[in-house]
Amino acid sequence: MKKGNILIKNASEVVTCSGFKAKAGKEMSDLKIIPDGAVVIEEGIIKALGESDRILETFEEEDYQVIDASGKSVLPGFVDSHTHFVFGGYRAEEFCWRLSGISYMDIMQRGGGIINTVKATRAASKKELYDSGMKRLDSMLALGVTTVEGKSGYGLDCETEIKQLEVMNELDRAHPIDVVKTFLGAHAIPKEYEGEEDKFVDYIITEVLPVVVEKKLAEFCDVFCEKNVFSIEQSKKLLLKAKEMGLGLKLHADEIVQLGGAELAAELGAVSADHLLQASERGIKEMARAGVVAALLPGTAFSLKEPYPKAKYMIDKQCAVALATDMNPGSCFTESIPLIFALATIYMNISVEEAVSALTINGAAALNRAEIVGSIDIGKKGDISILEFPSYKYIPYHLGVSCVEKVIKNGRIVFDRERKGEKICW
Ligand code: NIG
Ligand code: FE
Repeated sequence: MKKGNILIKNASEVVTCSGFKAKAGKEMSDLKIIPDGAVVIEEGIIKALGESDRILETFEEEDYQVIDASGKSVLPGFVDSHTHFVFGGYRAEEFCWRLSGISYMDIMQRGGGIINTVKATRAASKKELYDSGMKRLDSMLALGVTTVEGKSGYGLDCETEIKQLEVMNELDRAHPIDVVKTFLGAHAIPKEYEGEEDKFVDYIITEVLPVVVEKKLAEFCDVFCEKNVFSIEQSKKLLLKAKEMGLGLKLHADEIVQLGGAELAAELGAVSADHLLQASERGIKEMARAGVVAALLPGTAFSLKEPYPKAKYMIDKQCAVALATDMNPGSCFTESIPLIFALATIYMNISVEEAVSALTINGAAALNRAEIVGSIDIGKKGDISILEFPSYKYIPYHLGVSCVEKVIKNGRIVFDRERKGEKICW
């Protein structure tokens, strides 16, 4: 039996989410389920799938580590396509201020918010960032996440932005979860550039972006395009340069104010536009036409008591919608996939099927990875989660509690709740 050879048999259902590109509109409802299913993984790659009887006729059980998934649902590993999981310090007191009625943007205007985390992240050693990042990845893994995106943006200077990205690189190598890195140097205006926003954007473009690209430390460039943060013009200037230098584009767009971020994402051919709580109808239609994934972050709307994005409308207009946690120390401190499922289905009125597509194949598409992860298809990575229940419908139904019993990454069991006392076992 070779390493990375697994045969899963007798699953109540294999929810394949089959596909190699983003699913838009109605396509999101079709999960392409195989009842009484089996999946064969060889050397970490999915080799075959189908009904158990048929698979067992062709493949010898003794060649594999066999998992009997009777009474269980088998899904692709989740792809959390928007997080800020590497950071120093915490902001619990700001959470309480928000509860007392002070808004996220007010806190930011008063010098708190992101800048608070910038101070702590600049002061943190690489080891501190690595250790806390590792713990957060372990929590995500136990929730069924096998690919995660992580953003810089708590440095706002060359040294710290590079430090954050290098830590993510090391975590990617050390941890089973694949970490996809995004450069978010334009996340806020640092104290030393107060009142000189254009100068700061030029600094990011001329002094930080080239280092990130030269060291191959990021695949994507993102910007917080928002009133009182970075304007449409400033965002466009930075993103055009990043595109020219070979990075894929992402935007924090139309989160608090309708600024035209969705339209800009479409114009620039961004891979995703994220948040979109206030996106205009025109912007949504343009995103659908341009094939920009709408990455929605209901945990943030919930935590900030902001209105939820119009997910249903976006799907009706043929957008490909992804869901992600936005895990960060300020606006949404959670890695909870079950919470995101609950909010999306209960408050954003999308179906469980659409939510599953949004956290698998469309999450992968939001990271330009729909050809290698995000579904159970032959040739893709053997990234799979097995639920303790017979149907994916239990995910939001079991409110806020994870149903994930086993996680397989590249054909290896890396989390197993059945093995008592050995939860994380990579
Ligand atoms: O996606 N909106 C901007 N950035 C993050 C929040 C970061 C923070 O508050 O630390 C977000 O919500
Ligand atoms: Fe974010």
